[in-house]
This record gives sequence, structure tokens and C-alpha cells, in this order.
Amino acid sequence: MELYEYADLTSRLDAIGEFDDMSDDEKLADLVDQLRPYLRNVIGATIGKGGEGKTTLASNLAYMLAEEQALRYSQGKSAKPVLYMELDHNGDGRLDLGLAATSFNDEGKALRDAITNDGNLKVVKEVRPFLDATISGKYCADIAARISKLADTHSLAAYLMLSLLLAQVSHLYRWIVLDFAPGDKAIQRTGLAAATHLVAPIRNTDNAALGGLATLTRLIRTNRRLNPEAALTAIAFVGFRKVKGEPTTELLNVRAKIEKLITDANMNPSVILDEYVRDARAIATLCRNHGKPAREFALAAAGQLHDEQGNLVPRPRDENGRFVDAEQAVKLADDYSNLARGVITRVRQRNSELRENQMQGAAS
Ligand SMILES: Nc1ncnc2c1ncn2[C@@H]1O[C@H](COP(=O)(O)OP(=O)(O)OP(=O)(O)O)[C@@H](O)[C@H]1O
Ligand SMILES: [Mg+2]
Repeated sequence: MELYEYADLTSRLDAIGEFDDMSDDEKLADLVDQLRPYLRNVIGATIGKGGEGKTTLASNLAYMLAEEQALRYSQGKSAKPVLYMELDHNGDGRLDLGLAATSFNDEGKALRDAITNDGNLKVVKEVRPFLDATISGKYCADIAARISKLADTHSLAAYLMLSLLLAQVSHLYRWIVLDFAPGDKAIQRTGLAAATHLVAPIRNTDNAALGGLATLTRLIRTNRRLNPEAALTAIAFVGFRKVKGEPTTELLNVRAKIEKLITDANMNPSVILDEYVRDARAIATLCRNHGKPAREFALAAAGQLHDEQGNLVPRPRDENGRFVDAEQAVKLADDYSNLARGVITRVRQRNSELRENQMQGAAS
């Protein structure tokens, strides 16, 4: 692991400096059109409500996608790293990847400045093989207000600050996984402008969770000018009971409600993933506390994880000092593998449609 600084990126403030509230729509559309092809590997994990599993899903997805790239590399195929970026000021992503207690933890200061003030983009390289990550934390709480202030002068273009940043590094990454909570308008717009694919986790069955999903679908529509390509690409259930490998009525009921919500919004219900993550709260909590994504934690629980020096990592124990049930941990990790596969299949499918549309547009 090492800190890497992308120092010679073009000024994002200069780019939006061209815009004021008198700028015509066409000028903004031109900039958005230019950015779009560079952002098709950006996957946003979000939903219009807190605590639904965004960070758990995003960090595990990033880890799984990185693992796939590492495997490709070992087979002599082309491979690129994956970047995980959390915008939330709670900084839970740092915990999930075991970065909170490292010297890289600047509480999100560099990330805030990179997004809002042309600061150098700092990433922790090789957090895991083929996985880079930025650090979020309390300073990220300023992002919303700073972007809003820029919007006072530069209107909608201010919400492209993150898009302009990511478009400059996206070719270096196979995937960029963005984790953000659309609790604030400026963050909603900023995140939804950058991400081409939105993946929404659902952990709760109450109306608030459904409301969060409805909010997200509405925001995607109202944000069209900043991102005409954004779409809800996958809905993923996280933390639902599996009995003999089958979902219970709890999941079937919430799935039926969501199907209706999606069809009523004229969207294709195939975005709802069949693959889902089982309820494993105790293990999920231990994963976060140990700073390990589910697959890595499962390897540790099975006594098969080695550290960077090649030493065997001691098998993790629960709060009562008992060894973690390796079988359960492996099942949870397998759920994430299957879920990641479901997400990425849909993302790839949409990307090929987007490329086709672009070619048709160019030909006509
Ligand atoms: N498979 C699972 N089974 C049960 N609970 C889980 C599972 N995975 C995650 N959780 C729990 O769900 C809770 C919320 O997860 P997470 O922090 O990822 O959500 P979030 O949407 O990022 O929240 P916030 O809006 O606070 O950032 C956590 O307490 C986590 O332990
Ligand atoms: Mg979170």
C-alpha cells in the first residue's frame, strides 16, 4: 500500500469557470456529451435513504471486481485496477477496507479538496491487489456546501466537478465504484452526474426503504441534463434470510412491491437482481470491525488468509472469543460473488447498448 497523488490533472474550476447562470443549455449539453464516454465505468452505489447497505455493497463489489482483475492478470490477460471512492463523511468505507487505523487516514481532507478545489487526487494504491481507494471522513461533510457555493456562480456546471475529476483518471481504472448517500441536493447531483450505472441496495422492508428507491428513480430523471446516461442498473437485496438456499416470504413480498414500483415508473423489472445477500448481521459486523471484505474475512475464518509478508492471518474470533464459523462466512462471501456477477453482467450489457447508441448517433 502506498499513497499516490495524481498531481497534473487539468483544472476543474477553470472548466466550470466558463459557465454562469446566463450560459445556454447547449453549452452545458456539449460538456456533458464530452464527459460521458469517459464515465461509463463509474458505478454508483446509492439509494435515497441511509443505512440500507451502500457501503457494505460498494466495498464488497469493489473488492470482488478487483479480485477478478487480479485473476485476469495472473492468466496473462489485460487487467486494470479498480477504484473505490466514498463521498460520505461517516467514512465507513475506510473501516470496511481496514484503512481507518493507517497513516493514510486524513479524514477525507484530500478528497474534499480534490472534488471541490482542484486539489491533487490522492489515492491509496494497492489497498488489496488491483484495488485503490480514496479516504473519506469528516472533511467530506463540507463537499455539499462547497459545491452549492460554486453553483451560485457557475450554475449546474458546478455539479460536474467530480465528473471532470473522474473523467481524467477513469482510463486508468477498469471500474470506479462510487459510494454516496443522496441526502443532500448537491451530493445527489454530483454523484448522479458522475455515475453511469446506479446500484441500489435494499436491506429494510419498510416503506422508507421503498421511498428511498422511489426518490432515487425520480432523481435520476430530474438530473438528465447533467447525465442523460444515468440509469438504475441493479437493485440488490442485502441481509435477507435464506432457508435451505431459498428466499423467505419477507424477501418475496418486498420484491413484489419493488417490482410494482419499478414497472409503474416505466422501468424494466429485470434490474432487480435474483442474487441476494443473506442475513448475516453478526458476520457483517465482524467484517467491518476487522476491516475485511466478506471474501477476505471468509478466507481468514477458514485459516487460509496470508498477510503481505506471507504469514498466516490468525483466525478471527467473535465477541465471545469463539472462532468465527468459517462455513457461514464462506456462504456470505459466495453471496457477494454472485451478486457482483449479477451487477457486472447488467453493467456490461448497458454499456454495449450505450456504445451502440453512440455509434448510431454518429452515423446519422
Ligand atoms: N448481510 C448482512 N446481513 C445483515 N446485516 C448486514 C449485512 N450486511 C450489512 N449489514 C448491516 O447493515 C448496516 C448498514 O450497512 P452500511 O453501513 O453498508 O449501510 P449504508 O447505506 O452505507 O449506511 P450509511 O447511510 O450510514 O452510510 C450495517 O450495520 C451492517 O452491519
Ligand atoms: Mg455508508
